[in-house]
Amino acid sequence: MTGNADEADFWSGPAGAKWIEYEAEQDHFLSTVAAAVIEKAAPKAGERVLDIGCGTGAVSILAADVVGPGGHVLATDIAAPFASRVKERARTLPQVGALVADAQSASWPDEPFDMAVSRFGVMFFADPAAAFANIALALRPGGRMIFAAWGRAEDNPYWRIPRDMVDQLIAPRPRPLPNTPGPMGLANADWALEQMRASELSDVRAETLEVPLLHAAGAAGAADLSLRIGPAVRPMAEVEATPELIAEYREAVTRAFLPYEVDGEARIPATIHLYTARRA
Ligand SMILES: C[S@@+](CC[C@H](N)C(=O)[O-])C[C@H]1O[C@@H](n2cnc3c(N)ncnc32)[C@H](O)[C@@H]1O
Repeated sequence: MTGNADEADFWSGPAGAKWIEYEAEQDHFLSTVAAAVIEKAAPKAGERVLDIGCGTGAVSILAADVVGPGGHVLATDIAAPFASRVKERARTLPQVGALVADAQSASWPDEPFDMAVSRFGVMFFADPAAAFANIALALRPGGRMIFAAWGRAEDNPYWRIPRDMVDQLIAPRPRPLPNTPGPMGLANADWALEQMRASELSDVRAETLEVPLLHAAGAAGAADLSLRIGPAVRPMAEVEATPELIAEYREAVTRAFLPYEVDGEARIPATIHLYTARRA
């Protein structure tokens, strides 16, 4: 037991099912983040890539296209429904495998990987230092890590606006403690770098990027997404929100997202950290 059982339950339950249901919308929304990870990782034909917390596999599939049939991508996630979904999604890509694995404690295949990548799959570890050390064991000497994580909620309107609206409409809610597992678990880059430096990694760095989050259905589409798989899901479930409350939230958040709508498309600026390191 590694302390990640709650996360396994959460993502294997209705939350994970919703990610699968809204996969296409979510993948478009976060496409700029996937592109930033792949650009930084720069996999080459024939290389072996490990995707951590792969979800429905968007980054795995992008990596698979680049490494080609002579390479290999292992999509890993603590939640079994995601591994099944990736297998289904990548059925025409023989170079993609899928494994149910808690990154903090998994035993990896014997053949080492050239790199480990992740889009937002590394912020939920009970013990991040142990998890980074364990992921390092999957890499060849000189193998790299390239992980995207959210910056602070204050710097991310997609998180800040729904959070403030929930406070206003329901009740002010306690903020998660800093440096604890959750979407903003690695928002403090200094602390996150300390966790990475605790293992035998070299060239440990954080780069902070601003990228747009995209929704073809504009501000209203982004507000809906925040209710389906985004920041409003947990608070609305906790208070068993009525349809009236949800409608009020939707209207208010749509209004607040409107300044980010350009020609009908939402382009919400996001601050993310790209963490990189190398196995010594
Ligand atoms: C925010 S989702 C991101 C999914 C995917 N990377 C994407 O960008 O679409 C976080 C993912 O991390 C996975 N996860 C959480 N804790 C994990 C752990 N200890 N080991 C492996 N995966 C984990 C969850 O099951 C979930 O799929």
